Amino acid sequence: MADPRFAGKVGLVAGGASGIGRAIARGLHANGAQVVAGDLDADGLAALAAELGEGFAWTRSDVTREADAEALVALAATRFGGLDLAFNVAGASRPGYIVDLAEADWDFTVDLCLKGVFLGMKHQARQMMRGGAAGRSGAAIVNIASLNAHVPMHGGSAYVAAKAGVEMLSRNGALEFAPFGIRVNAVLPGLVQTPLTRRHFDNPDAHAAFLERIPLGRAAQPEEIAGPALFLASPDAAYVSGASLLVDGAWAVSGYPDMRPFRGPVAWNAR
Ligand SMILES: NC(=O)c1ccc[n+]([C@@H]2O[C@H](COP(=O)([O-])OP(=O)(O)OC[C@H]3O[C@@H](n4cnc5c(N)ncnc54)[C@H](O)[C@@H]3O)[C@@H](O)[C@H]2O)c1
Repeated sequence: MADPRFAGKVGLVAGGASGIGRAIARGLHANGAQVVAGDLDADGLAALAAELGEGFAWTRSDVTREADAEALVALAATRFGGLDLAFNVAGASRPGYIVDLAEADWDFTVDLCLKGVFLGMKHQARQMMRGGAAGRSGAAIVNIASLNAHVPMHGGSAYVAAKAGVEMLSRNGALEFAPFGIRVNAVLPGLVQTPLTRRHFDNPDAHAAFLERIPLGRAAQPEEIAGPALFLASPDAAYVSGASLLVDGAWAVSGYPDMRPFRGPVAWNAR
């Protein structure tokens, strides 16, 4: 491997079994890092371990549980000697119009997408601060938010609020961790072809409605989000912290489609 960007670095991916997280884990590993990944999907992580071999460790881990977030960081320290780069990627949503949305579904989405990132950052930064005190440098955290941090969508209140929270949480981390040399940035993807968005690809009308709003005329592949995320973690971004990088095929400049025809009518009736 000629001049691997992340040689000697230890990277962590929370939500590494599928989609964007898996592409980040592969990218880190291919560029010389030792990698730990956590996810609820143990089978997916085991398959990735079989693919990557040496320099990859995993554990089943729920980002909404603080003990799991701490254990994933501890795995990086015990197996590979520390932590330099962390990616908080796990996410999903239980959508519903505001007037229909159950409290439990709001909690599910916000806990997973927002609290999960807080718990990850808390323990990742603690370990990075220990490493800094011991002479490690170049630590960075990258959080995967969404275009929905800026653009609302029908039925997406919990998700968009959580993703907006991830963007601001990242900026707060950039402020608090800067004295320790730790950078924090957010990536805001547009439409990416992963299991999370399968329903938009399986429905030709919904897919067409999305593509109409995406000036580049197509969805991204997970690797096209992983690349910018890895850039933000790399020495090329040494002076980038507190930034939000839109990776959306110029979608932000054209607005979100009206998804009501695909989501169905509001169930709640005032009369
Ligand atoms: N796909 C898109 O179009 C898109 C767009 C913008 C943002 N995002 C964000 O990108 C991130 C990755 O999504 P993806 O598209 O790769 O989806 P994905 O479904 O392929 O991957 C998400 C991963 O998170 C894991 N996960 C879910 N709940 C978890 C939990 N409690 N603890 C640990 N792991 C958990 C899943 O098992 C899965 O492996 C998410 O935060 C998502 O909101 C995706």
